[in-house]
Amino acid sequence: MPEPAPDVTPQTILVCVAWPYANTPLHAGQIAGAYLPADIFARYHRMRGNRVLMVSGSDAHGTPITVRAEAEGTTPQAVFERNHASFVDTFARFGISFDLFTSTATVNHARVAQDMFTRLIEAGHIYTAEQTLLFDAKVGRFLPDRYVEGVCPRCGYDGARGDQCDNCGSTLDALELLQPRSKLSDATPEPRVSEHFFLRLSAFNEQLRTWVEAQTHWRPAVRNFTLGLLREGLHDRAITRDLDWGVPVPVPGFEGKRIYVWFEAVIGYLSASMEWAERAGDPEAWRAFWEAPDARAYYFQGKDNVPFHTTIWPAILMGYGGLNLPYDVPANQYVTMSGAKASSSRNWAVWMPDYLDRHDVDPLRYMLAAVMPETSDADFTWAEYVRRNNDELVATWGNLVHRVLTLTRRHFEACVPAPEGAPAPASTAMLARVDAAFVEAGRHIEAVQLRAALQTAFAVAQEANRYLDERAPWTAVRTDRAHAAETLATAIDVIAGLASLLRPFLPESCERAWRLVGQADAIESAGWTRRHVEAGTPLPEPAPLFTKLDDTLVEEEESRLGQSS
Ligand code: MF3
Ligand code: ZN
Repeated sequence: MPEPAPDVTPQTILVCVAWPYANTPLHAGQIAGAYLPADIFARYHRMRGNRVLMVSGSDAHGTPITVRAEAEGTTPQAVFERNHASFVDTFARFGISFDLFTSTATVNHARVAQDMFTRLIEAGHIYTAEQTLLFDAKVGRFLPDRYVEGVCPRCGYDGARGDQCDNCGSTLDALELLQPRSKLSDATPEPRVSEHFFLRLSAFNEQLRTWVEAQTHWRPAVRNFTLGLLREGLHDRAITRDLDWGVPVPVPGFEGKRIYVWFEAVIGYLSASMEWAERAGDPEAWRAFWEAPDARAYYFQGKDNVPFHTTIWPAILMGYGGLNLPYDVPANQYVTMSGAKASSSRNWAVWMPDYLDRHDVDPLRYMLAAVMPETSDADFTWAEYVRRNNDELVATWGNLVHRVLTLTRRHFEACVPAPEGAPAPASTAMLARVDAAFVEAGRHIEAVQLRAALQTAFAVAQEANRYLDERAPWTAVRTDRAHAAETLATAIDVIAGLASLLRPFLPESCERAWRLVGQADAIESAGWTRRHVEAGTPLPEPAPLFTKLDDTLVEEEESRLGQSS
């Protein structure tokens, strides 16, 4: 059955990626949860010729930052600056291709967040009310969000925080916590009254429900979880806090309070798009991504962020008006480390700055994409990392490139051979297989099924190795030179195709593969299609794409897990 022709009308794609709290460096689980899938998706759409804007930034505010600063005896500003610099460095080294990675500490962001806050007050979606909060009488402070911990009233997890339970994903009110404990002293927190602003979420419940029900293309886990929240009914939420770190409340009389970190951080997607446009010298350019009805916004994140992106942020957008709602919220499940949840306090994680100091980028991009937790939690082990590197990257894809290019160099004067006459059916079928993979993998990526897309591409590499084994050009070259020429020329076209198919996943090694087949000049303009490599193209000295790893790496890396650094 012939494949339908791909749609070639350029699309407008906004890629929004969760804003990491600037309280610790990034670990591999966060990369697999949000940054890598967003990057693969954005790179694919750019190759397709679509208009892409990918934004995020450091989440500078909130109690994750202030609690950390207090623990370190430093300022929230210092904690934010150190980790923001680390994020920027990690994304650059790991090839996460943001159009802009900014932060919520900018003047622009505060202005946009305050403007939205004010507009929602004017529209009646935000109101003030007295709120009963937990207060630590010993230190004389209210205990917002992470300043109080206790037992989750929904799932019984002891370690739920005042804002959210990490175990069951519920968003919480600190007053609901059973056996609450203050983080600031050993005092038992007591309820006291404070005046705050509230977002009238309850008023959006039905509008949200109608909208979410229509989003049948969402991942079932995301859609069902959200529908569950809406069935229970959303409660109005306090969106200011008794803190001195954050975006100031733009209303007189509230000088000692700040806008709730989650209310302002999600606005970062919009403020970052505006900052990007400003920097690009076209201040109105953000509108194409936010106002055009056919522009699509994808919000990449880990599952703990879902309620904020499927209820609170859409409610803010509905209340504000005129801006696109999320098109998709492809949230991932978690990546555990050798069976346990990543944790910074127990130093149980693959820290990205450490990883990048010790290893190559693409083996980890490959491993994380191959196990990407799109439908259920995945586990990272170093043994699996080494196995996938050696058996898949080195033995399948790297070896294909190396075999073909060393043979061509040896027997065909380091130039792409010219086939003679009509190609054998096996060669035609091999190339058709590559072309079909572009259509199939493209469909998977557009549906944000990235594991499946990677499998589609990798199956082509496996098939190419079989094609090579069957046609044995190393033997044929002595008896039937034309046969060997056809095999190698075909294989070089397959390699060029794979260097494009795999490029969203493995950008660095695919660019080297492109150079190895004499296409250095074509890298920039490479589209989502197989490009034929002309006979006679000179080939440089081949070099292996990947390095085989020793099993001793497993023990070495595992011994770092759980050690204090
Ligand atoms: N800082 C939050 C976290 O790390 C995520 C914020 S996403 C945003 O869990 F959209 F709200 F910014
Ligand atoms: Zn819970």
